Amino acid sequence: MSVLTVMPSGKTIDVAEGVTLLAALLGAEIGIPHKCEGQAKCGSCHIFVQEGRKGLSKIAREENERLDAIVGVGSKSRLACQAKVLGTENIKIELLGFGSGI
Ligand code: FES
Repeated sequence: MSVLTVMPSGKTIDVAEGVTLLAALLGAEIGIPHKCEGQAKCGSCHIFVQEGRKGLSKIAREENERLDAIVGVGSKSRLACQAKVLGTENIKIELLGFGSGI
């Protein structure tokens, strides 16, 4: 189990091992775009991981290729639908755009 902190709201969610960030966010009724329903095809679930990157599954080729195609991607970027919580450390992410809940 890991604690996921969602910025900018600061809301925290307990996330079980093996759950994607997208599933955790949607399960907590936090709005995040996910146009392709988690297929790593749309890039709309792009988020920044501020802390706890090692507590997430590694970036696979599909995710990497999709991230490469997104403007504004940085070293902290992940696709929420592809990043699975490993349960080893707590994680802090930052939502972007319409999903930020501001
Ligand atoms: S929901 Fe489309 S890439 Fe994650």
